[in-house]
Order: sequence, then C-alpha cells, then structure tokens
Amino acid sequence: MGAVGSKQHSRVPKASKFSDVYDDNENSVASRYTKLVSAFKKEFEGEKPRTIARSPGRVNLIGEHIDYEGYSVLPMAIGLDVIVAVSVVLKEEGNVEEDEAKATLSIANVDGEKYTPKEFPFDHEQDVDVKSHHWTNYVLCGFKGIFDQLKKQNKLESVLESAFMKRVKKVMVMVDGKVPLGSGLSSSSALNCAVTVALMDAFELSFTKGELSELTCLSERYSGTQSGGMDQAISIMGEKDLAKRIDFNPIGAMDVPLPTNLTFLIGNSCAVSKKAESAHKHYNLRVVECRLAAILMAKHYGEDIEKAKTRVTLREVADLYCNKGDLWTALGAVRKSLNEGSYTKKQLENDEGLGDLRKIFDCENNEAFNVVLQKNDTFKLRDRARHVFSEARRVHEFQKICEGQSPIYTVSGPIHEHWCKVIGLEPDVGVASDDPTKDFGHPMYGMGKEEALAKLMHLSHESCKTHYECSCDELDELVDAFMSAGALGARLTGAGWGGCVVAVCESDVAEEILADVKKSFYEKRFQSGVANIADETNLLFKTAPSAGAAILHYDDEKGVIV
Ligand code: GLA
Repeated sequence: MGAVGSKQHSRVPKASKFSDVYDDNENSVASRYTKLVSAFKKEFEGEKPRTIARSPGRVNLIGEHIDYEGYSVLPMAIGLDVIVAVSVVLKEEGNVEEDEAKATLSIANVDGEKYTPKEFPFDHEQDVDVKSHHWTNYVLCGFKGIFDQLKKQNKLESVLESAFMKRVKKVMVMVDGKVPLGSGLSSSSALNCAVTVALMDAFELSFTKGELSELTCLSERYSGTQSGGMDQAISIMGEKDLAKRIDFNPIGAMDVPLPTNLTFLIGNSCAVSKKAESAHKHYNLRVVECRLAAILMAKHYGEDIEKAKTRVTLREVADLYCNKGDLWTALGAVRKSLNEGSYTKKQLENDEGLGDLRKIFDCENNEAFNVVLQKNDTFKLRDRARHVFSEARRVHEFQKICEGQSPIYTVSGPIHEHWCKVIGLEPDVGVASDDPTKDFGHPMYGMGKEEALAKLMHLSHESCKTHYECSCDELDELVDAFMSAGALGARLTGAGWGGCVVAVCESDVAEEILADVKKSFYEKRFQSGVANIADETNLLFKTAPSAGAAILHYDDEKGVIV
C-alpha cells in the first residue's frame, strides 16, 4: 500500500488552460508554446504536433542519496519545466515502398544550435550510447521505457502488432527545456518524463502515474547513472502548493504541506554537476559503496556469505536485523559492523570473503558498475551507511514537524541512551566521535517549527559534506552565503558535486536575502565570467511547490489549449 494521499493510481492530467499548470504570466507561457509549435513545423516540414506534454524539474528539500537505498525522500516540483511536442506520421496504406521503409525517430530542440538534432531508427531495442553524452540520450531513454513497461505488462506483442504501430513511419519530437542543465534540479528527469508522457499520449497508451514514475526511473538508467526514483516520481506526481514524501517499493507520494510563513530559495553554485559523465567516481560509486555496506552488515548479522551477497539496499538489511528497521539500531549496527576509513578491493574480496566483486555487481551485463570497479580501488562504507540511516531519520522528522508535531530531538535523553545501549556503552562514555546522535547536533527540544526544519536541513548538508562527501567548495560557499544573509537553513540539493543549494527563510526577508547573496556570491562570478548576468533569474530565485506532469494540446492558430 502506498501512503495516504498518494496519487500513484491516477493518470497524468490533461490541462484545459495554462493556469492549471503555470503560475507565470499566461501570455509569456502561451508565447513559449507558440514558439515550440513553430519550431516543430519548421523542423518537420509543416507537420503539426499531435501531443504536447510538460514535466517539471524538482528541488529536494531533504533526503539526499537515500532513494536508491529504499528510504523516503521529501522533494517538491518547481515551476521550471521541459515541454515536448510529438507527432506520428503513418505509412500510407497499400503503398508497398512505404511499407518496407524503416521507421524513424527524429529528435530536435528549439535551441537547435546548442542542442543539435539527431535521428534514430524507430527501434525500442537499440542501445543508448552512454559513451557519447548527447542530450537526445534522455529522449531515447523515455522511448525505450515505454516499450519496457509494455513488456512488463505482457502487452508488448499486441501493441507492436497493432494496426497503429505497424504503420508508424516517422515519430517527430521537439523539445524546449527551461530547467538549467547540470544544476541538480533534475533537468534530465524532466526531459525523460516529458518525453515519456508525450509519446505515451501520441501512441494512444495510458499508464498510471505510479507506472510512469517507475518506468522512467528504470529507463533513465540507460543513460548510465544508477539513480533512484525520486526525480522522476516528483516530476510526474508533483502538485501545486504541496511538497511530497516519495516512498519506494511500492512507489507512492504523500502530501506534505509546508509552513506558509516560510519561503524556499534556490541558488546555483555555478559548479556544473555532470551526473552521467562523472558517475563512476561520484554517483555510481556511492551506489556501490552502499551495497557493499549492506552486504557486510548482513554478514555481521550471521548471514551466509552467498546470501549476504544478494542484499541490495541498506534498508533491506535494517528491516531484517535492526529492530524492524529502527534507524537508531541501524546506526549502532553500522558502528559495530563496518570499519572506519576505507576498504581496499583486496580486503573486501579476500579478508571479508566477498570473492570477485565484479560478480556481485554483474559487471558483464552492467557497464556502469563495471566502470566503477575498474576505476576505483578504495571504498568507504561506514561513513556512507551512517549518512543514509541518519538522513532517513531526518526526512521522517522533517515530515512530522511539517505536520505539526513538535521537534523532539536532544543529544542527551532517550535517543542517546538508547544508542549507547545498542552499542553496549555506558551513557556519556558513548559520546565518541562517531556517536550518531551527534548528527543531530544541538538539542531540538523547545525549538520552533521553522527553526527545527532549518536545523534538519543544515544537519543534512553537514552529513552530505562530511560522511557522503558529495558537496564541493562552491556549494559550501553558497550555503555559507545564504546563512550569513539571514537564511534559517541551507543545504545542497540533488546529487551534489556541484549544482544547487536550497535555503529556507522567513518569507518577509526573502528579497533581502536574495539581494545579499547576489552581492556576496554572484557579483564576483559575474565579473570573472564564471556566471552570466543575463542568467541571473535562473541562478538565484524564490520557489514554491508546483504542478507535476501534464498533457496540453495547444492549438497555435487559435492560441488556446484544445
Ligand atoms: C540524483 C538522482 C536521485 C537521487 C539524488 C540524490 O538526483 O537522480 O535519484 O539519488 O541524486 O538524492
């Protein structure tokens, strides 16, 4: 069962007017769609789009790098999105020449100079070329994902044999993206999701939001990152005015109302985070480290080594052995079962008895993991697992506070004592450097709601920086800039290693903070050319929970959605 408030069984809405989806000025939205349609007609020789879909980027408020470990995360969709127009040309009936011609998938972008067009065969079995990072890879991911889903539902054969599919001659896709690339606001998932929804509609198929979230999560892995499902799920299931707690296995989205007196701000660190290109030393390496940590923890609990090697997520192990997934017990277990510092490959394979790591990660069939194991010889497990369990706890706490519960954390008191008991130390003696209760820093008893939420965001950043090592100098500098300007809390958002910071502040001082951060962080970057002043509004801005994916049939001649 998904959580209460989940929308995973509903379908992507068809918008009947722009204001169903956008808060922006209606004329400027309409002119963006007109541009998309004209670019479409120009590129594809007068053809008109059959379907237009949009899907937004997201900002993750808390819960970083834990979705692929099975833990819930807490993002919201943002107003910046990707819009995609699609049309399908069918072969003329009875035309033998056309019957034999190979169907094609043609992809172009409104900004064709920067994002060059590409044509592929209309073949869902083709591979995505992960070695060349062309933007159209994500379109291909979306295209392949639709057929994977049909296969999963045992409908592939019948759809491929349908009169419609057999007559496909050419599929045309035109894209316009407003989510800044490499910013940690999930431009890639917005593109994948918008394409998937548009193609689904153009192919006369209908998947639920839950199915779409899952299929896009899996299909994006064709691009080379072994990412979790947060970005796609919130892009599909986001809603105006609500953050969401996204759950996995099964996927679900629970409404989380944010305090109305708070405003969330986004700042781009100007360090580009190239998720796919650097995956082997960043993102995919962390996925590997967490899995190795899960395996060693299972072994610690007495599992036979062959069984332990089948464990995939830390949550799986915690649910089985740590007091039904109690996160404090899991944090204690991390200390007992994983060494501080790094393990070498040799240590893991020989001393820990895991044998050939390549086999565990199925490297013959999984190129992403193959590269990780080829290019890395050391793996940090304790710090990574510690981040995952403590971050999962912070998500839980953040949600409860949003729902009106009072902040309950304190370093001394029940949590600290409980943890000391778990690891077999007397209270207080247990305040060692790796005491997980320290992750919560200062007592939160008596804190106001706003202050406590901000504190959790701050602690999340510290954990990302110190234990997960997914921050960078620019992100840390920007977090400090927000804090010095008067924000209540700030943290990196998304995968990290560049990209954006999300900050929270009292709404009445938001403008002042933006002005201050502009001065302290951006002005020198505008001067040195690291950032372009023309992009200012996309680098630093206020944000609010926005609508998720939608289908909009836009008639550019009438200027209305039909
Ligand atoms: C990327 C991935 C997500 C998630 C975040 C980190 O955005 O696509 O699945 O793991 O990083 O929280």
